[in-house]
Amino acid sequence: MEKQSGFVLRTVASVLGIGFVVLWFFPVASYASERWYSKQQAEAGEAIYRANCMSCHLEAGAGAENWWERDTEGRLPPPPLNGTAHTWHHDLFTLVKIVLDGGSRFGGNMPGFSRQLSAREIVDVIAYVQSLWPDEIHDIWAESFPEDASRGIPIPDD
Ligand code: HEC
Repeated sequence: MEKQSGFVLRTVASVLGIGFVVLWFFPVASYASERWYSKQQAEAGEAIYRANCMSCHLEAGAGAENWWERDTEGRLPPPPLNGTAHTWHHDLFTLVKIVLDGGSRFGGNMPGFSRQLSAREIVDVIAYVQSLWPDEIHDIWAESFPEDASRGIPIPDD
């Protein structure tokens, strides 16, 4: 009996050990599973970002340094999208609306992309923007919008 439980314990310990080693060497796998989008979506989104958004929001969503200072006409510069500004205060619906309509509704400078980009491209570009957020920022976002975080944006039919 004692022998057997020793065996069971050793088996459990080695399975846990293997699990630990797997997580240790492949942290990316567990990280990716917490996000609603696939790596492929984020990669497709990066190409869309480079072609349509980078001229204003800069490389990897760095945005303007003084993004909170309005110009003489009261307009805001393109903010960072990489998690250092406040993009993570928005749910997915709002992010989609911003890309579709731009900032004109509230006197902003950003153009809308409802004509240039397909629904799928908008989903992909938002996936890319969120892929720029560090895990801490993503997790705060996910706590605020748990349904969005688990469901994501349903991929529309082309
Ligand atoms: C012509 C410059 C310009 C282009 C191009 C542009 N943006 Fe913007 N973006 C802005 C500005 C300026 C704002 C701030 C709101 C405003 O003034 O409209 C903004 C705001 C945003 C916000 C809200 C950020 C926040 O923290 O609330 C998101 C998200 C965003 N842009 C994503 C994108 C994406 C994705 C693209 C490409 C499909 C894009 N933008 C293209 C200028 C631009």
